Amino acid sequence: MLQKWGSIAKIGYIDNIPAGMIQFRPLPEENVVRIDCIYVHNKPHWRKGMGKNLLFSLIEDMKKPQKWFGNQPAKALIVWTFPGHSEGQLPAKDFFVIYGFKQVAEIPSLLFYPLKECFIYQPVKKELPQYTPQPEDKGKVLIFCGPNKCPAAYPHFLKRMERYIREIDEKIPINYIDISKEPDMAKRRNVDYGDCIVNRKLIGAFVLDKQGFQNEVKNALSG
Ligand SMILES: CC(C)(COP(=O)(O)OP(=O)(O)OC[C@H]1O[C@@H](n2cnc3c(N)ncnc32)[C@H](O)[C@@H]1OP(=O)(O)O)[C@@H](O)C(=O)NCCC(=O)NCCS
Repeated sequence: MLQKWGSIAKIGYIDNIPAGMIQFRPLPEENVVRIDCIYVHNKPHWRKGMGKNLLFSLIEDMKKPQKWFGNQPAKALIVWTFPGHSEGQLPAKDFFVIYGFKQVAEIPSLLFYPLKECFIYQPVKKELPQYTPQPEDKGKVLIFCGPNKCPAAYPHFLKRMERYIREIDEKIPINYIDISKEPDMAKRRNVDYGDCIVNRKLIGAFVLDKQGFQNEVKNALSG
């Protein structure tokens, strides 16, 4: 990410302790900047202005000309929010709405913040990739991991997948495939980081939707 885009994150410190971060990357085909993550981890650091300062700092930067967009400023910031907050912590969606982000029509989790006057964001429609089932995937779980854009993904999402699957089936083999080491394993199946295959079915539900995720796992195991 650093080699491709340059600086793609800001870290905020309180008393010399890294207390919060905002991570982002350009989408040059749309001239917008996507916020991948904002997070203030430790409770004593909550509500001290860290999240707000990180966001405002990014907004000010993105109003300036960017090499990613042919020396034009970004047209907007966008963010796909999800419920990654702990108990008592502000959900990301509520935070962005407080600071003027608007919902993109009919997609509740997708918000945008225009930097160009009157700009309304509409995502470029992309075909969803289809998993190519492999005979050897029968009777097992494959979770695709490796270096990626979100430091919370492995402990919070992938290991959670494993836990939720184990609650349903104590014995099924669960294999982690590191895409950086075994790229062909992902390529052959047409899957990517964070994808989870159970008994030759790709699980579509996001793991934080525990019920939806486990329902799909049960269906996959009964098929
Ligand atoms: C959203 C988040 C970044 C805010 O960080 P923060 O530094 O604690 O927030 P700030 O101090 O900048 O607060 C800004 C405003 O948000 C609101 N706010 C923040 N925490 C709040 C809380 N617990 N309850 C109600 N409002 C809250 C307030 O309006 C606050 O302004 P005010 O204190 O002047 O009233 C942080 O709560 C967080 O990390 N939440 C989880 C986000 C997440 O799920 N990320 C996905 C993982 S990648």
